[in-house]
Amino acid sequence: MSQLLRDAVVKPDQANGPICIRPADVSDMERLSIYFTGLSMTTRNKRFMGARADIARVAAECVARAGHPDHFTLLAELRQEGYGTIIGETIYVYDAATRHGEFAISVADVFQRRGLGLQMMNAMERRASDLGHEMIAAETARANAEMRGLAKKAGFADTGLGDWQSVHFAKRLPPVASAR
Ligand SMILES: CC(C)(COP(=O)(O)OP(=O)(O)OC[C@H]1O[C@@H](n2cnc3c(N)ncnc32)[C@H](O)[C@@H]1OP(=O)(O)O)[C@@H](O)C(=O)NCCC(=O)NCCS
Repeated sequence: MSQLLRDAVVKPDQANGPICIRPADVSDMERLSIYFTGLSMTTRNKRFMGARADIARVAAECVARAGHPDHFTLLAELRQEGYGTIIGETIYVYDAATRHGEFAISVADVFQRRGLGLQMMNAMERRASDLGHEMIAAETARANAEMRGLAKKAGFADTGLGDWQSVHFAKRLPPVASAR
């Protein structure tokens, strides 16, 4: 079992068990594939900014990040009776050339709008900060009100670099010493 992140246990809210946010590893590939397959078409299309048929391959790419020092995937897992069900994920990739991290995120449809996305963003930022990264940026469709709202709530600002279809936003991370 992967090590849990600091402060990673999320309030169960209306869920039927504790929810943990933890790094993914190779043993998560099949369950991550099941998670992506179970998303509604709308959520899946928003997550991948278009249709993706090769879900198993996407899941494999996500868990492959576990072996890279500057990339990671975090999973939100609902724990019930000793079994974990993935209910959210965020993937983070660092670009050494531009010196910023980029991410994508999703939360299972029935768990959306309960604060889990924000908790995952916070966990991702802490981990990126621990890696010494100073800036996180992302892009989403201009029509994606959920992601734009989540980014704003997490303290990201519009960089103005988007176009009529997309919005780019970024956040400078606090130095490690004051990030805690
Ligand atoms: C974007 C997403 C991850 C948000 O996850 P979530 O768990 O629902 O988000 P939270 O409950 O933490 O919401 C945090 C804030 O985001 C904003 N937000 C979330 N859902 C929203 C919606 N449907 N409309 C407008 N704002 C929304 C709100 O500001 C919210 O705070 P509030 O509930 O206090 O108003 C989720 O909607 C999702 O999986 N969407 C599909 C995939 C996607 O679009 N990914 C982004 C591209 S990679």
